[in-house]
Amino acid sequence: MHIEPVTALIGAEVIGADLENLSDADFAVIEQAYTDHQVLFFRDQPVLTPETHIAFAKRFGDLHYHPAAPRPEGHPEIFVIHAHKDSKFADGNGWHSDVSCDQEPPLGSCLQLHLLPPVGGDTLFASMYAAFETLSPTLQDFLAGMTATHESEHLYRGRYAERGVDDAGKVYPSAEHPLVRTHPNSGRQTLYVNPSFTTRINGLEAAESKALLDFLYTHQQRPEFQVRFRWTENAIAFWDNRCTQHFALWDYWPHERKGNRVTVKGERPFYRPSESVKSELRISQRND
Ligand code: SIN
Repeated sequence: MHIEPVTALIGAEVIGADLENLSDADFAVIEQAYTDHQVLFFRDQPVLTPETHIAFAKRFGDLHYHPAAPRPEGHPEIFVIHAHKDSKFADGNGWHSDVSCDQEPPLGSCLQLHLLPPVGGDTLFASMYAAFETLSPTLQDFLAGMTATHESEHLYRGRYAERGVDDAGKVYPSAEHPLVRTHPNSGRQTLYVNPSFTTRINGLEAAESKALLDFLYTHQQRPEFQVRFRWTENAIAFWDNRCTQHFALWDYWPHERKGNRVTVKGERPFYRPSESVKSELRISQRND
């Protein structure tokens, strides 16, 4: 088994992993690569049974249960990702970090796709380390220690009704999190706001909050910070929600795309001050 980076900043392929019989030594390599590359891709995999998929994810921690999506009978940990010709939406079709509205948002998410459209359906991942580290030290210092509100009512209410979820009376989660988040493993700072769940920066006037979030979202989405995964049948992507965002492209309608996601529970985000780090990455401000 070995690791092949896909870009300089984010993403690596794990070549030759046997996830059904993973040795402790191979797991240690995968765990280190996860910290180093933020999202890992495994191709040429067998269809994982729910049990194998769950067992692999559990090596990273306890599992997370989605607050809105239907929970399959017998395997409530599985989040079925499915879009087809009658779908009104496709999960993940906008920049986000999974369920950042939770008090303890997911550490990571492990998705295997079993059914792919003939073309399209790629997933984009962006490094929030790179997004933070390419801000000026002045803005880094300004943002550090601020908090933002993350909500989900606007996203989840009625969303899964057509899959049989009756959410009458249900209260969807919301949380306040540090805007700059320290990754517990790497110690690096990451920009922790996203346009799907984050509704405001606390302590600012509404117009100030909107202007700053608009700037941060535009900055976060720079192509230099991204890797684009072109799925192959039964490939797996395993991303770290603490330091990445992703966007699942719904460009394949009316075709179908389907798979299983198992999500690992995270801890309450925190910010631990450190010396500001300005990335050496040169990003041009020109738009021509
Ligand atoms: C998601 O979990 O946000 C969906 C990712 C994908 O379908 O590629």
